[in-house]
Amino acid sequence: MHTLQSKKTNDFNEIVNGRRSIKQYDPDVKISREEMTEILEQASTAPSSINMQPWRFVVIDSAEGKEKLAPLASFNLEKVMSASAVIAVFGDLNNIEYAEEIYGKAVELGYMPEEVKEFQVGYFKPLYEGMSREQMKDIVMLDSGLVSMQLMLVARAFGYDTNPIGGYDKEKIAETFGLDKERHVPVMLLTIGKAANEGFQSYRLPVETTTTWS
Ligand SMILES: Cc1cc2nc3c(=O)[nH]c(=O)nc-3n(C[C@H](O)[C@H](O)[C@H](O)COP(=O)(O)O)c2cc1C
Repeated sequence: MHTLQSKKTNDFNEIVNGRRSIKQYDPDVKISREEMTEILEQASTAPSSINMQPWRFVVIDSAEGKEKLAPLASFNLEKVMSASAVIAVFGDLNNIEYAEEIYGKAVELGYMPEEVKEFQVGYFKPLYEGMSREQMKDIVMLDSGLVSMQLMLVARAFGYDTNPIGGYDKEKIAETFGLDKERHVPVMLLTIGKAANEGFQSYRLPVETTTTWS
């Protein structure tokens, strides 16, 4: 089979314009947990609402993990099986629990004066705590979508390709991987690995269709 595998690159144009959703991967390629950690760290520089970083990842990179995922993968089964890993992205509805850690660290590291932290946390903590589940879900889905996009691009910089996947059993995914489903809402699966083919080009609507000017 002809293989066109992404190379490690810092060429932003190549990273963005060369991205395709890849459905088949070289099954022999493993991504070390060290390298995956680096990918996740870089992806996590994504912006998020009040910097709460509500994304949570389950990296499914073992045969046992894949076995657990298989019955939930629906029509995407083959895609998840050949990937080096599948990253299940969740949004944490209780993300505000990390406010003290995030803003406390920012003070400790000299990124923010203590008074600013006290003011900001004092303002948004009660706001977040008073939100409905639906309101919080909107926020975590948005933030986790941003980190997912960034992850797909970072993966390409590391020489890997990805496919975002929405077609899976969202009712069962959290519990299957030991997460509290009341707290963790499923966002998407991301397959990642060395592409076994080039994927397909896809059409984009012209900007004039998607945009109005005012
Ligand atoms: C939220 C989301 C869910 C998706 N779900 C699936 C899926 O279940 N199976 C699949 O093969 N591709 C899935 N895709 C990939 C899209 O089909 C793909 O991104 C789109 O056709 C554009 O192609 P490109 O990614 O190669 O540019 C999904 C993409 C997104 C953003």
